Amino acid sequence: MQQIITISQMKDKVTFGSKIGLIAATVGSAVGLGNVWRFPAETQSNGGAAFLLIYILCVFLLGIPVMLGEFSLGRGGKSSALGVYQRLTPGKKWWIAGAISTLASYCILCFYMVVAGWTLEYLFQSITGNLYEIQTAADPNMNHAFSVKMQDYIMSPWKPVVFTLVVILINLVTLLRGVKKGIEKMSNIMMPLLFILLLIFVGVSLSLDKAAEGLKFFLSPDFSKISPGVIINALGQAFFSLSLGMGILVTYASYYPRDTRLGKTAVTVSLLDLLVAFMMGLIIFPAVTTFGLTGDNLEGATLVFVTLPEIFMNMPCPQLWSTLFFLLLLVAAISSTISIAEVTVMFSQEHFRVSRTKACCIVLLPLFVLSTICSLSQGPWSGFTILGMNIFDFLDTITTNVMLPLGSIIMCIYLGWVLKPEFLQQELTNRGTLKSRLLPMVTFIIRWIAPVLITIIMISQFL
Ligand code: PFF
Repeated sequence: MQQIITISQMKDKVTFGSKIGLIAATVGSAVGLGNVWRFPAETQSNGGAAFLLIYILCVFLLGIPVMLGEFSLGRGGKSSALGVYQRLTPGKKWWIAGAISTLASYCILCFYMVVAGWTLEYLFQSITGNLYEIQTAADPNMNHAFSVKMQDYIMSPWKPVVFTLVVILINLVTLLRGVKKGIEKMSNIMMPLLFILLLIFVGVSLSLDKAAEGLKFFLSPDFSKISPGVIINALGQAFFSLSLGMGILVTYASYYPRDTRLGKTAVTVSLLDLLVAFMMGLIIFPAVTTFGLTGDNLEGATLVFVTLPEIFMNMPCPQLWSTLFFLLLLVAAISSTISIAEVTVMFSQEHFRVSRTKACCIVLLPLFVLSTICSLSQGPWSGFTILGMNIFDFLDTITTNVMLPLGSIIMCIYLGWVLKPEFLQQELTNRGTLKSRLLPMVTFIIRWIAPVLITIIMISQFL
């Protein structure tokens, strides 16, 4: 216990340097592949505007309160996602919730690095023009041509591995530079860049021929489409997109200074995350109607690696648009991988009592092997399966469908029922110096609504 306190006292000095930097880093963590490809795909398959509406409700009614819970736990506990439980309730088994989140974050890191690697590969192939070297005469079906390219880029034995390793190296270099000089500085550059790129694409997409038709699907709700399934998917998407349940926000909030207004920060981060998802809708749906795309073309990887290149091919300067888009995706992916990795970096620093440099190596060096295994499991090693899934898909499913919700449920129970109500009150009011009108509602949601709803969602996936 003595040593834990010493380490956390030391950590009191490590904080983000500025309010903007703190917001940029947290938004960088939230904005990721979840916004860019998962959100449009979910909106398309769940009925368009009706899904968007429920999604916005989920972000406000559940996402923000649970985010506030994670922020409070992190800043109040001033420790890693696992350490906060040990510090606040020493000698009890509640650290298991932190262990689940920490383990989940590491498993996610293994395959998220691979996807970030694909993005880097597509950026590289866009810049060199290789992606658009297609013999249209020999292959009039361009969609098929891009599917073949995807097979080559993603399933080949060595190419995706090389790009994944480069992404891990970028993460390593950033994390080694520390919280202020690494994470915060990088976020301060990447986030404005991301918003500029998004704005350019929104402009281009809104000027497409059938943009109005796409906007109608995205923005005018048909309430008959709302079903329990749509609500469940919207809530799942909200948690995924806001990076809840995996210890990221607990970890980042432990670097928040004492005077940070948690309520304001949670609302700003959630609104910006929502804005990015909304802008992606404004980009994708006008293209969907203009180019006559259907459900299959919009699914995750196919949307990004097959459908979008096909769309760029139909526009003037495909290479330029493609380069800008994959740059946008890479920025979103890397700012998320860095935040996911920070969970285990901080954990290692604290629990193995090592320097930041050693902790970064402990976390990232094994990834050179683990992510390679994940990458190969999409190609040559796809025959090796667990519960009928290759390693990549297995990790994806078990983390997002089981471990993340489980981590969130236990955290809500812990905050709502185990810790004294004063804990949340102290954090949300900055030790009594602010008024928090939302406190009773946030407490009620964390105690009752969030754990019950997340449990229903988790169970309903298996029915
Ligand atoms: N919130 C980020 C995204 O939407 O991509 C990061 C993230 C979410 C990473 C969920 C991993 C995860 F399971």
